[in-house]
Amino acid sequence: MTRPELATAATDAFARIHGGAPDGLWSSPGRVNLIGEHTDYNEGFVFPFAINRHTVVAARLRDDRMVRVSSGLRDGVEEVAIDDLAPDALGGWSAYALGVIWAAGQLGTDLSEARGLDLHVESDVPLGAGLSSSAALEGAVAVAIDELWGLGLDRRTLARIGRLAENEAVGAPTGIMDQSAVLLGQRDSGVLLDCRSLESTIVPLAFEAQGLAVLVIDTRVEHAHANGGYAERRASCERGAAGLGVSSLRDVAVDDLERAEQVLDEETFRRVRHIVTENARVLAVVDALRDSGPRSIGPLLAESHASMRDDFEISVPELDLAVSTAVAAGAIGSRMTGGGFGGAAIALVERDDLASISQRIHEAFAAAGFTEPATFEVLPSQGATRV
Ligand code: GLA
Repeated sequence: MTRPELATAATDAFARIHGGAPDGLWSSPGRVNLIGEHTDYNEGFVFPFAINRHTVVAARLRDDRMVRVSSGLRDGVEEVAIDDLAPDALGGWSAYALGVIWAAGQLGTDLSEARGLDLHVESDVPLGAGLSSSAALEGAVAVAIDELWGLGLDRRTLARIGRLAENEAVGAPTGIMDQSAVLLGQRDSGVLLDCRSLESTIVPLAFEAQGLAVLVIDTRVEHAHANGGYAERRASCERGAAGLGVSSLRDVAVDDLERAEQVLDEETFRRVRHIVTENARVLAVVDALRDSGPRSIGPLLAESHASMRDDFEISVPELDLAVSTAVAAGAIGSRMTGGGFGGAAIALVERDDLASISQRIHEAFAAAGFTEPATFEVLPSQGATRV
């Protein structure tokens, strides 16, 4: 769906479910991470971009203190009083939306006089594909309440609100990359984010300008961040930092790895090596884009994927096959993107090769007996905004 179609769907459903017209529509994109995986919660560097897949929220102020939220993807309306918002009281899909309102209150917004809201959500960000459908919902609700309640919060604060919602209301121990990407993105550009200072720089990608395209290969292997591997990797990183006597792995340089190998157990060392080298690769990609243009970043994307596969061990056979097939079919570079354990890979390709590379990937998946992947192009796009 295009964004105007989503907006129309949201307006129509809003009228049907809540009655009348919304006060406005706000939209947030999903994101693709170009490079910098699992570095965000280690206070490192990430380099994602917002994409042309969106979540649109139709919203209207109420005269009471209730928040009522509905979605095109589910039946029914979830309802809670602003005074009753608390992580324990929230669950299911609506925890993302309602959690943002709770989190705003935790991070300095006075909710005691805030008017209630009717909200309806429509989205074409695929769920569970590693394209941040959750951050898209958080981002759209964040910009909606910012404007409807006249909060005047900056994007960095809105991103922190989204992360708090995700961590506490949803219960997923993620970093701040996704919320930052969807709130700060710009057309044909990436967001270089220092996850320690939260300083961000918009860096032109020039994919569009140079005739390149980004192919997403959604393996349809489902990942769930709230449980299992993600939290375990985060714990290994904390163990590694503690073993090296630093507060976070941001403070470990590539030159320190030799010493780290002597101090840490073998597995923790490999986890640490991924984070440390990935931070360096993020900065190298930004330099390469500036100095030599987008066709020069392929080897860094390949190294990043190998590091996630071998050192951090968050890839799955479907992701490895997507990446190796894309490269064999002529992609400039390819890697898995997002938290891992399933989800999507990306391939940077010449626009003219999009169809042939995508076909080769479908054939390879069929030959391997894997579930058919979904392949589609995404464009680096503008971040969350009023529609
Ligand atoms: C998920 C999390 C992010 C980040 C990535 C891995 O997308 O939400 O905070 O940690 O995984 O880079």
